[in-house]
Amino acid sequence: MMEQIHRELQLTADGSHTLFVPEMDEHYHSVNGAIQESRHVFIEAGLKQLSKENLRILEIGFGTGLNAFLTLIENPCRIEYYTVELFPLAPNVIKELNYGQIIFEENKDLFLALHTAPWNVTVELTDRFYLHKIQGDSNSCTLPVDIDLVFFDAFAPDKQPEMWNQEIFDKLYRCTAPGGILTTYCAKGSVRRMMKKAGYSVERIAGPPGKREMLRAIK
Ligand SMILES: C[S@@+](CC[C@H](N)C(=O)[O-])C[C@H]1O[C@@H](n2cnc3c(N)ncnc32)[C@H](O)[C@@H]1O
Repeated sequence: MMEQIHRELQLTADGSHTLFVPEMDEHYHSVNGAIQESRHVFIEAGLKQLSKENLRILEIGFGTGLNAFLTLIENPCRIEYYTVELFPLAPNVIKELNYGQIIFEENKDLFLALHTAPWNVTVELTDRFYLHKIQGDSNSCTLPVDIDLVFFDAFAPDKQPEMWNQEIFDKLYRCTAPGGILTTYCAKGSVRRMMKKAGYSVERIAGPPGKREMLRAIK
């Protein structure tokens, strides 16, 4: 089981941490900069593209909570943030991560609050940010509907191919509200084709530093 798997804390090029899973030879984020990647792929290419008073966000792969934390800090409107994770991190791993200090020193406890929030219930973290962490397998669990923004942040297709299949993109398409957006750091042609087959319009856009392209899909 992955929760028993050894994960190593590493520094990325922008000074923020990531986790490395030796058994998979895979990082949780880009080694060129974890915060930089998350901001580019999920905040700039996703969150900032939508202007609504209420946003429903669904993240595949909660992991370190970095995307959730940046969204919470950005906080452009009232947000209901759903996130699915099969292998939650242990508290001793979470407390080593430096995102709280780097991103929002004055209120870094909010980062820990994302992790200590109970699973499978909706928690009001601030009066504008509601968190619902689903502990389960995104391939088989029930996903929320009417989602405005999907953050697809699974491990890379060559490391965890079972996360990138036609069924999951069909399922995500059904959950996405008309006009909704799905973003991912991945730019693979096979992934693009699955998203298109699901019904999304898909564009390749500039990726974060160190990566030429990424995908953004719109319903
Ligand atoms: C690339 S990491 C990114 C996580 C996170 N967004 C972050 O910024 O740290 C992928 C995450 O997907 C999780 N995961 C792996 N298999 C999963 C599954 N079947 N269902 C849901 N999450 C899964 C992993 O445990 C890991 O936390």
